[in-house]
Amino acid sequence: MYVLACLSYIVAAVFWSGAATDDVLSKHRFPKDFLFGVASSAYQVEGGRNVNGNGENIWDYFTKTKPEKFHNSSNGDVACDSINKFREDVKLVKNLGVDFYRFSVSWSRVLPEGYSNNINKDGLRYYNDLINELIANGIEPMITMYHYDLPLPLHQIGGWTNPYLAYYFEDYARILFSYFGDRVKHWITFNGGCAGYGEDGFAPFLNQPGIANYICNQVLVLAHAKAYHLYDREFRMLQKGKVGVTLEGNWYEPGSFAVEDIEAAERAREFKLGVYANPIYHPEGNFPKAVRERVDNISRQEGYLRSRLPTFSAEEVEYVQGTYDFLGLNCYTTFLVKDAEEDVSEKTSSDKDIRIKMYQDKQWHKAKSSWLRVYPDGMRKMLKWVKDKYDDPEIIITENGYSDNGELVDIERIKYYQKYLSAILEAIHEDEVNVRGYTAWSLMDNFEWIMGYSEKFGLYHVNFSDPNRKRTAKKSVDWYKKVIRERRVVEIKEVSSRLKGDL
Ligand code: BGC
Repeated sequence: MYVLACLSYIVAAVFWSGAATDDVLSKHRFPKDFLFGVASSAYQVEGGRNVNGNGENIWDYFTKTKPEKFHNSSNGDVACDSINKFREDVKLVKNLGVDFYRFSVSWSRVLPEGYSNNINKDGLRYYNDLINELIANGIEPMITMYHYDLPLPLHQIGGWTNPYLAYYFEDYARILFSYFGDRVKHWITFNGGCAGYGEDGFAPFLNQPGIANYICNQVLVLAHAKAYHLYDREFRMLQKGKVGVTLEGNWYEPGSFAVEDIEAAERAREFKLGVYANPIYHPEGNFPKAVRERVDNISRQEGYLRSRLPTFSAEEVEYVQGTYDFLGLNCYTTFLVKDAEEDVSEKTSSDKDIRIKMYQDKQWHKAKSSWLRVYPDGMRKMLKWVKDKYDDPEIIITENGYSDNGELVDIERIKYYQKYLSAILEAIHEDEVNVRGYTAWSLMDNFEWIMGYSEKFGLYHVNFSDPNRKRTAKKSVDWYKKVIRERRVVEIKEVSSRLKGDL
């Protein structure tokens, strides 16, 4: 009898723990000072690539020279035409009732060749007008300085594998702080990490895994630290803003209870997030020890005379560690991880270094993007992991969102947001994670990198066959507005009768 009671308790507990963050929405409320926002990035929405002194970047270049890499050979020449329609965009942002708008500055629009000797006045004017329009409407501008769109001349000197990029990034940062820092109080140096260096699915399509991505990794981290120190030295006192970086915060969950799989999942976190987060956010700085050891050993086995993972000098470790006021996380999904067999004969790659098998549970609801399945508990676990690992930093979720075909009645998007926001509330109230803000990706449907216009993440629909790029609110707009107004996760059925009719 006792055994039976215990068993039913365990069954109920397992069932309930799954349901608590998945189907049952959190009853907690968002703290009074919690910030809500919405995001976009320059190349994905602006268009206006060939106008007014704008320079060429890697996306301009590769969409023209390798169109076959992009769905329907599409490009961002016009995208959402935000360059001309930004005042309308600000109205859309305002309609949501958010506290901030996270957008990125296109480096080559401000510095056409990437270097500081030639400033494009027209580019400055565009961002200046956008910032002023936001502020006039009571919305805080949050700027990402770099969202994957490197000026072409900088790519031609090696891109993020060239250590001098850290200095050129510092110059670019100086220009942004000088012109916009009086009004911009949240700065994100980088979005994500070194996409396109270790694989072929993203510009600049370098595809040198296990080498180019590690070098880029180090240069990016140093560039971030330079911008942070610059702000500290010359701008912080007067401008009183915050500087952080945004990293990919997807969760890696062990595929079983086996020790090897638990270790493999931790390895995945260290190789995917830790390589950027550890040098900046970990009290000891530097690359994670496990990553250092594995890449050093495997490089040796492979016959390299030095490790493929660059080293930070003791001075650099100290220079980089602690260069943050907050941590931005882009969290969309979860991957399951299993330990994989060591195969010494395999050729060099970061996958070989990590030695894992990554997959997703087919039962998790799938979005349009092949990699995006819904597993909200991953968000909560990631937040807790970051809190414990990196000394409880202030966190802003800088992206979270769901892709579909662009339906106006986007119930699945609402369900996704509901569950993820619910998981965040649990993280804040139950796990005491210091989450200060949330950003929905994205303000509107846009150019989804190599997937072109085939995957839509927007709260607003954009008609890409209309030269006027007409924007239309999807149902998720109503829902998100109510969440922000009431500072709680709203059930779908509570949203206007208009929406109920569509269910
Ligand atoms: C990127 C966005 C992208 C989104 C969906 C994010 O990590 O920052 O630019 O649109 O993922 O793929």
